[in-house]
Amino acid sequence: MASYKLLLLPGDGIGPEVAAGMGTVLDALRETGLATFETETDLVGGCAIDAHGTPLAEETLARARAADAILLGAVGGPKWAGVPYESRPEAGLLRLRKDLDLFANLRPAICYPALADASALKRDLVEGLDIMIVRELTGGVYFGEPKEITTLDDGSKRAVDTQVYTSAEIERITHVAFDLAGKRSGRVASAEKHNVMKTGVLWKEVVTRVHAEHYPSVELEHVLADNCAMQLVRRPKQFDVLVTDNLFGDVLSDIAAMLTGSLGMLPSASLGAVDDSGLRRALYEPVHGSAPDIAGQDRANPIAMIGSLAMCLRYSFGLGEAADALDGAITDALAGGARTADIAPEGANPMGTRAMAGTIADALRVRVG
Ligand code: NAD
Ligand code: IPM
Ligand code: MN
Repeated sequence: MASYKLLLLPGDGIGPEVAAGMGTVLDALRETGLATFETETDLVGGCAIDAHGTPLAEETLARARAADAILLGAVGGPKWAGVPYESRPEAGLLRLRKDLDLFANLRPAICYPALADASALKRDLVEGLDIMIVRELTGGVYFGEPKEITTLDDGSKRAVDTQVYTSAEIERITHVAFDLAGKRSGRVASAEKHNVMKTGVLWKEVVTRVHAEHYPSVELEHVLADNCAMQLVRRPKQFDVLVTDNLFGDVLSDIAAMLTGSLGMLPSASLGAVDDSGLRRALYEPVHGSAPDIAGQDRANPIAMIGSLAMCLRYSFGLGEAADALDGAITDALAGGARTADIAPEGANPMGTRAMAGTIADALRVRVG
């Protein structure tokens, strides 16, 4: 069996806790013969600042380039609030995304049957929910220049962020969205604000053209991003694939998370283009952050991290069966009543991060056994 080289970047806060949970599942994958990995662990974010004075050391970036795939926990936290903006923990993650050109961020929001009552919405609105948010990840206001705070003559200040998109950037993420829709229920919604933003005008124009030229059989709907946020809460199952820019995608995916029960449920894949040898760079990470409010307490839900590993098996290594088995193990664990605090009903006695990961690893062994 092929052995894949994984770079593990647990990061800060609950990052190391959910990454350890994923480690338990990696062991089970190995034992059951589903997949074997060589793993290397390194620092990113606040812990890298503490060790090296930078959130992403050059050696770590080199390891990231050499790995078959990267799995990242989370970065950031109040401990680094005083660090200069350019070298804050989040800058390490943004640099990884940008330098590896991981432009396509897939954020699936699935409501597991056992969690329909854990959602912030009524059961009938979310039962069977399966949305794929396709977030552009290396452009837009996250990286546009200028990005600065200047002091004006009267001593007051002026802050600027710049939203920039080229048609090439929009085109490549649009292809990802339509290709995915072709394998799903064949519907794409594209969210922007062409009523206010020039980037929105170009976004809509490019999506419309790519659709007409290459994917006429896929259904396309344009939706203004503010309305999209509302529709996600009003009638979320109207969406299948939702393609949007970097900032709207960040916000809309946190909304989508609450439809599934918790931010702790949402995995993601950040993918680059496929190169000549058929390989593509990829980083897999939960949608959630370092959750300083629950860090170090064995309370974090590891499912977003473990689901990110399942995405890694599927998208980086073509191990669809192993990915299905792992997704199935998550479904089984939840169906069997396993709940961390974020998805447990009031008054229940929830399990911790380690117990949840162990339950999923056991469910995987049972499935494969
Ligand atoms: P957050 O996602 O860390 O937490 C928001 C809320 O969700 C908190 O109440 C937290 O307890 C809860 N939560 C998040 N993940 C959970 C899980 N797995 N299980 C149970 N509950 C969970 O967002 P925040 O508090 O706004 O940000 C904290 C730090 O994380 C900031 O420094 C931010 O920049 C960083 N952040 C990093 C990433 C990343 O590394 N990809 C993503 C988002 C935020
Ligand atoms: C995410 C996070 C990041 C983002 C931060 C930590 C840079 O919120 O991955 O959703 O805004 O992209
Ligand atoms: Mn976010």
